[in-house]
Amino acid sequence: STQAPFVNEAFVDFTLALNKRLMQSALDEVENQLGREYDLVIGGRRLRTESKIVSTNPARPKQVVGIHSKAGTEHVQQAIDAAQTAFVSWSRTSATDRAGLLFRAAGLIRERKFEFCAWLVYEVGKNWGEADADVGETIDFLEFYGREALRLAGATTPIQFPGERNQLRYLPLGVGAVISPWNFPFAIMAGMTAAAIVCGNTVILKPSEDAPTIAARFVSLLEEAGLPDGVVNLCPGSGAEFGSALVEHPQTRFIAFTGSKTVGLQIHERAARTQPGQHFIKRTILEMGGKDSIIVDNNCDLDAAVQGVLASAFGFNGQKCSACSRAIVDAEVYNTFCDRLQTKVAEIKTGDPVENVYTGPVISEKAYRKVLGYLDIAKTEGVVINGGQAIETPEGGYYIAPTVVKDVAPTARIAQEEIFGPVLSVIRSKNFDDALAIANNTEYGLTGAIYSNSRENLERGQNEFHVGNLYLNRKCTGAMVGAHPFGGFNMSGTDSKAGGPDYLLLFTQAQSIAEKI
Ligand code: NAD
Ligand code: ALA
Repeated sequence: STQAPFVNEAFVDFTLALNKRLMQSALDEVENQLGREYDLVIGGRRLRTESKIVSTNPARPKQVVGIHSKAGTEHVQQAIDAAQTAFVSWSRTSATDRAGLLFRAAGLIRERKFEFCAWLVYEVGKNWGEADADVGETIDFLEFYGREALRLAGATTPIQFPGERNQLRYLPLGVGAVISPWNFPFAIMAGMTAAAIVCGNTVILKPSEDAPTIAARFVSLLEEAGLPDGVVNLCPGSGAEFGSALVEHPQTRFIAFTGSKTVGLQIHERAARTQPGQHFIKRTILEMGGKDSIIVDNNCDLDAAVQGVLASAFGFNGQKCSACSRAIVDAEVYNTFCDRLQTKVAEIKTGDPVENVYTGPVISEKAYRKVLGYLDIAKTEGVVINGGQAIETPEGGYYIAPTVVKDVAPTARIAQEEIFGPVLSVIRSKNFDDALAIANNTEYGLTGAIYSNSRENLERGQNEFHVGNLYLNRKCTGAMVGAHPFGGFNMSGTDSKAGGPDYLLLFTQAQSIAEKI
């Protein structure tokens, strides 16, 4: 193909006056568009329902970001039918044309980068840099999967049997469900969708109830880029109702899900149950939660470790599956580490993401209550050295102070359960062996990092720290498409490695053809 080699989208430098101005005017423009109504999109047609999902700004819960028609169980068959119809032609569309759609979509998003960033600021409370990382990752997924689809289309079997012509080709699976979370509401939603369709599948996209607006805007953009009717059917709806009905439907061939462990395991079970009339085994791609650790060794650059832990724990308020929620610190440097961390965390500013403050609100009232519940537990399980309480604002935003709890036992609830908020547990380790044992003592295995100057320990870590994404002497968030294929071990998921060379295979079935010559 004539595509230039893949490179990651560069981050926007918001210290430049021009970029600041562009972002400010995008925020103003998007503010004027808040509160609009969005319909379901099934087979290219707009469908309006009585019942609605109202998306609000977590920094100002009275501010409505978008009002969305809500798909109910009665829409499942309709959406499947539309996707089935579209599958007939889309599955036969060339890889070049399918990849072309992704490349055009990437180009359009790049042109409107600030606008998409602004939507993320309002809908989920990301600051400008976090919003830009989400938009950049979206562009990367589109560019990367487009190229990967072209590569797969040209793949051949490495061995030819004497007297035969042998082929191996990757066919789409059929109609699938894409069920996405709110925390990377653009990149993960668009990434799973793009991977599915570029392989020739058609999908029913069910975005998170907390972030349907960005999904609606993405689907409109895909249409602008030339998306044929029915290839992506947008159905915001309740997870428990529409989502589970979609998972159970006998014609749903695959489910690409990213979200919590509880829901992922439920989907796994339900998809495994064969329904009357079902002709295949459903494929599930399930990426779930994390309880991620950073090991701080006694010989490391302690300031770098403090910086890495802080960014990993409090970037977007710890609302990342990759977030560091456990710092495991060698006894020799434990007190110094805690003191320096405490000083740095005390400097973190919390406030309205529109003003590009370091941490904003948590996503919803439900999340706010859940995190506050864990703050009560934290007070009984360790010593709170930062935060530990909510921050009240006149607008009633869901703010919680960045919280550090030290002297936490490795088996404490706050050291084991995914809180998904700005709460970091600091755990003392006796030595590196002990640190590794603690790091591996959760049911999860998503990301992890080690700060150490010992080559031997870094190497041991590579062999013994059991996580899908391991980072050495850097933070444990911010995986880059291509360079850091992303996915977790154990209860963190099926290790699908989004943004890696094996990802698209999950959306295909390989066919071998042998012809006698
Ligand atoms: P969630 O599990 O609550 O929801 C995810 C999606 O599943 C939503 O669209 C929701 O409506 C839907 N859903 C809910 N119940 C369902 C059901 N019974 N059947 C079908 N669908 C259902 O997760 P969330 O709060 O949106 O996202 C946060 C979680 O996602 C955290 O646990 C985080 O660690 C995880 N996450 C993981 C990754 C990863 O790559 N491993 C990335 C981002 C987020
Ligand atoms: N891909 C996201 C990160 O690495 C979750 O932080």
